[in-house]
Amino acid sequence: MKTLVVVSGGDAPGINSLLYHLAESAARQGDTLIGSLGGLPGVLDEQFTVLSAVSIAPYMGLGGSVLPSSRDPVLSDEANRHALREILTRQQFDNVLLFGGNGSLRYLPPILQELGCACVGIPTTIDNDVPGTEKTLGFDSACQYAYHAIDGVRTTGHALSGRFFSVETLGGHCGNLALAIALGAGADAVIVPEYAITDENPYVERLKSALERKGHALLVYTEFVPNKEHLLASLADKVGARLRETRLGHAQRGGTPTHADRLLAREWARLAFHALKTGIPLSITVWRGGSAALHHGLLPDTPVPAPDIAVYKLINGLVS
Ligand code: F6P
Repeated sequence: MKTLVVVSGGDAPGINSLLYHLAESAARQGDTLIGSLGGLPGVLDEQFTVLSAVSIAPYMGLGGSVLPSSRDPVLSDEANRHALREILTRQQFDNVLLFGGNGSLRYLPPILQELGCACVGIPTTIDNDVPGTEKTLGFDSACQYAYHAIDGVRTTGHALSGRFFSVETLGGHCGNLALAIALGAGADAVIVPEYAITDENPYVERLKSALERKGHALLVYTEFVPNKEHLLASLADKVGARLRETRLGHAQRGGTPTHADRLLAREWARLAFHALKTGIPLSITVWRGGSAALHHGLLPDTPVPAPDIAVYKLINGLVS
């Protein structure tokens, strides 16, 4: 079996671990893994590298991806789709293993299906915003990275009191990442793009009370909260303390893969390899009801799951 491996969209911690396990399985069974050096544009340019466990091993514990990714939607061009078909045939690829987030996993598998190429998709994004799977590879690591930063904020907050801290997470337009972090870190308030704030007072009271009781207050929010500058300035003004801001930025995406993500990578590698070997035409690895599973067919055509409203209210002390 000769498999083409493509990483598309934002990278995520755990991709390298998964590649390592996959390469191990391929080597044991005499199969070949060929990686694209640059997502789909890399395939069209025929920039390939042979993947082996030996070459991936040093990167296993690192975030990012040894295989460079791309966000370039090259297949929207029909000529490129023809070129892809020709390359897949000429290079004699039997199937494609595709790493990607919601966008890539929605957009690319139907095209590969149309080209008659079997495909296994792996949901990789720190945002945890892929319908059909309760978690995505990289999410746990991105939470862990944030805890590291928040622990530092708390330490200084304890030593020098009277501070109002905010921590901005990645997550794009989806608040799942910020919500999970706020919950795990015990933040005093959380703001996510999905839930607009119509009345700032309950948030102000929550933060003020934290400041009075503990000497510091912690707000966690998602990068793309609408009007965030204005909102944060207004909250700080009403809380009566200057805001001390931390933005995790892309460092959060490139963090070290956690134990949970490494286990997920191992399980998904096993399921993905089995799907490739047995010739399942289209499948996506998922996490459902506490275990790893293989979803046959396209991702469910449902909206991105919204952050849990009950958790949101719990963190913010909002009465239902
Ligand atoms: O891959 C998801 C993500 O990390 C989001 O959390 C973030 O908004 C976005 O990608 C950043 O994208 P880029 O790396 O293109 O700036």
